[in-house]
Amino acid sequence: MSIRLGDIAPDFKAETTEGTINFHEWLGDDWGMLFSHPADYTPVCTTELGRTAQLKDRFAAKNVKVLAVSVDGLASHKGWINDINETQNTTVNFPIIADADRNVANLYDMIHPNADNTLTVRSVFIIGPDKKVKLTLTYPASTGRNFDELLRVIDSLQLTANYSVATPADWQDGEDVVVAPSIPTEDIPERFPKGHKVIKPYLRTTPQPNK
Ligand code: BEZ
Repeated sequence: MSIRLGDIAPDFKAETTEGTINFHEWLGDDWGMLFSHPADYTPVCTTELGRTAQLKDRFAAKNVKVLAVSVDGLASHKGWINDINETQNTTVNFPIIADADRNVANLYDMIHPNADNTLTVRSVFIIGPDKKVKLTLTYPASTGRNFDELLRVIDSLQLTANYSVATPADWQDGEDVVVAPSIPTEDIPERFPKGHKVIKPYLRTTPQPNK
């Protein structure tokens, strides 16, 4: 069954390149990003995992733990990590699930049979500290994901979780945000003391509250 926003992220126990993980326990109170890779020793996946390793500190600064999944075994993952480190000038520093039995892939509906019967598509699940799914993304195997966009989305999700705001089209960290429709305009000055603009009664903006 497909996973929808607001669902509790399915829990699982899995072997990874950094030992056995019980997913919910491993997440603790942090955010999580679970993302799938079609297969080991493939070119696009190699660049994606290298990029994730390079960005590990930026994910950590946002309290996001990253966890990759690929439907190959542990020995294969470990050999592949050497290649990733060598070719992407980095050190893979996060766990990759050895999902040879496809347990996690099936739990998260990462295999789309009309695209490919056996390999996963490129799925992303961002999970909040409440273990609820905050974002799902599905890319085909042939398109590498944009990791700056994933970081941007996490900034947006965390702003929404901490303040009653949303982020407009193409928003970047530091730009004005949108006041949630649930806040009456008369309450805005108290809730958002940095100021606000009423562009339309339903379109109110305010400087990013955490900057
Ligand atoms: C890749 O990671 O390069 C890839 C994997 C499966 C199909 C196409 C590309």
